[in-house]
Amino acid sequence: MDRPRVVVTRDIPAPAFRKIWACCETRYWDSQEPIPRDIFLEWVQGVDGIYCLLTERIDPEVLDAAGPSLKVVSTMSVGYDHIDVEACVRRGVQVGHTPGVLTETTAELALALLLATARRLPEAIHAVKAGEWTTWKPMWLTGWDLHGATVGIVGLGRIGSAFARLLQGFQCRLLYTGPRPKPSVADPLGATYATFEALLEQSDFVSVHCPLTPETARLFDAAAFRRMKETAIFINTARGGVVDHQALYQALVAGQIAGAGLDVTDPEPLPSDHPLLGLPNCVVLPHIGSATVATRTRMALMAAENLLAGVAGHPLPHPVQGGTV
Ligand code: GLV
Repeated sequence: MDRPRVVVTRDIPAPAFRKIWACCETRYWDSQEPIPRDIFLEWVQGVDGIYCLLTERIDPEVLDAAGPSLKVVSTMSVGYDHIDVEACVRRGVQVGHTPGVLTETTAELALALLLATARRLPEAIHAVKAGEWTTWKPMWLTGWDLHGATVGIVGLGRIGSAFARLLQGFQCRLLYTGPRPKPSVADPLGATYATFEALLEQSDFVSVHCPLTPETARLFDAAAFRRMKETAIFINTARGGVVDHQALYQALVAGQIAGAGLDVTDPEPLPSDHPLLGLPNCVVLPHIGSATVATRTRMALMAAENLLAGVAGHPLPHPVQGGTV
């Protein structure tokens, strides 16, 4: 019997690649940079499976190019806003992702980014290297306390609730918002449901953990930032598309909020001359929420398991089911 044909769109961890290579005819974009779209469209022709990252848009054009042989799209990410899942389902193409394994790692990054932004760590590190540390000064590089603060969590899914768990040591008041109250998740965490508007008005820190969907696209616009406290810090480790970055820039410059920490932006990467990068009160990371050796390796393996199940015509062990990340 012919081995299934698959495309792998990036240089992925070796254990995952070996698993795929052992059973599939594999076309492999052996690079740290994304596969160019025209090459991708050519390579997918007649394949049984696509192993992609969040940098590849999987839309009807890709599905048409692949044709009826395509059985599975497996993304090495928990988020799947880059995949037109409905179009896949209509064609009987299964879609897999990597939920669960990156939850704690991403929540830890959110906390690290929150603290780095609140305590102005990048500015402080820069000051030391630039020779600006002349002496101990009473109000130099003063930031904002997390302990005792009100933290608003937008999206109490897997990562949002792991983040809330990490905050248990900081004696925070926790608010959360989302499409509906989730008492079974929230009550043990001591988190209280609030409307989006109430959460913005009351929180000292607002941390985004919702997926990017038509409902959450540009949720953080000028009106949202206007509702926030002047001392508030905004943290986004979910998806850049949830934020209007022009509105965020204006809010930071006008002092409507105190600071922002972003692990995700729109676009990605943010161009190096983007105005947000010139602001001392905006900390930007290059989408590293799940970037630990162990977690990225597990994600790669999980995506390989989805791919191999899909090309064999079996149900995926980790199918996209919609909802939370
Ligand atoms: C990263 O953003 C992911 O969705 O896994």
